[in-house]
Amino acid sequence: MNTDYFDRFLPLIDAEMRKVLGNDFPFYAGHYGMLRYHMGWVDEAFRPAVVNSGKRIRPVLCLLACEAAGAPAERALPAAAALELLHNFSLIHDDIEDDSPTRRHRPTVWALWGRPQAINAGDAMFTLARRALYALAEHHASAVQMLNVFRNFDEACVRLTEGQYLDMSFEGRMDVTVDEYLSMIDGKTATLIGASLYIGALIGGAALETRSALAEFGRQLGLAFQIQDDILGIWGDEAVTGKSAASDILARKKSLPVVYALADTKVGDALRTLYARPIEDADVPAVLDLLADAGAQPYAASAAQSAHQHALEALDASGVLADDNPAGQALFALSESLLNRSS
Ligand code: IPE
Ligand code: IPE
Ligand code: MG
Ligand code: MG
Repeated sequence: MNTDYFDRFLPLIDAEMRKVLGNDFPFYAGHYGMLRYHMGWVDEAFRPAVVNSGKRIRPVLCLLACEAAGAPAERALPAAAALELLHNFSLIHDDIEDDSPTRRHRPTVWALWGRPQAINAGDAMFTLARRALYALAEHHASAVQMLNVFRNFDEACVRLTEGQYLDMSFEGRMDVTVDEYLSMIDGKTATLIGASLYIGALIGGAALETRSALAEFGRQLGLAFQIQDDILGIWGDEAVTGKSAASDILARKKSLPVVYALADTKVGDALRTLYARPIEDADVPAVLDLLADAGAQPYAASAAQSAHQHALEALDASGVLADDNPAGQALFALSESLLNRSS
């Protein structure tokens, strides 16, 4: 990807988000401290820190869509900040829901401050994300545009909770189909990535057709992104991903490689026997062997490749890939760099 865009956008996104999480009243230092910790700005004693704070792909996609639509990217900054904060709200709660002790190479909020405080921190992040959108009024957005942004933003969040519901309810099932799996990741991941593009293009003044094609690009990219996340969740290097390896297996998550292997005539029975009771650390190598026998990794990789291909078709249909549209070209380059990512 043309890293110039990241160099240009990341400090702007960061500054906009810091405004939102900037309450300095000492009485609430712990509350905002947890939020800033999660964002990677402070350490667990709330001292300034410089650590991995995530890839920021949703806000970058939003700003690129705005610029690809022909308006200055800065106009969409409050929305970009809101989308990244919403994503981070979902991660704080997801880590509780998934019992995950590690994210971005550090202990998760609940692991440090307990589940009750982490639930509240997530709620705060959610509400502050939504509140960040009101600043669009100071960036030339019309009332109608803002209503449209709010509607898309809220719908994406509802879809996210639907996806998380399915994700958790699938833990206790062995007969999850690939279609059910796709509905789950569409909700938990792909819709918000699609909304990031839709909202950016909307603020940029794009016509409905362009906005819808860009949303579809984002949605397909999101499906590919989540399938890649599933692959990394099993075969990724913990030192690179910054998330605990094997936790998807321990939680009996129905990620795509597992859905595929459970339906495999050769290994399905043996895998179901293992998944019929809680999985222990000692069971993980046997699960990995069965996944390998089923060819689950190459299957998932080709599913990611196919969603990526659909993403590129939608990007092409959006009409932003013209030579004189560098932001459109950057959307293409970013999607290429996300496939085969290692973190
Ligand atoms: C993690 O998202 C959760 C998924 C939707 C797969 P990212 O991989 O975008 O997380 P960060 O923000 O870069 O850490
Ligand atoms: C991703 O969930 C989607 C959301 C956080 C809403 P996962 O549970 O698959 O993501 P990681 O692997 O913990 O980041
Ligand atoms: Mg999860
Ligand atoms: Mg998780």
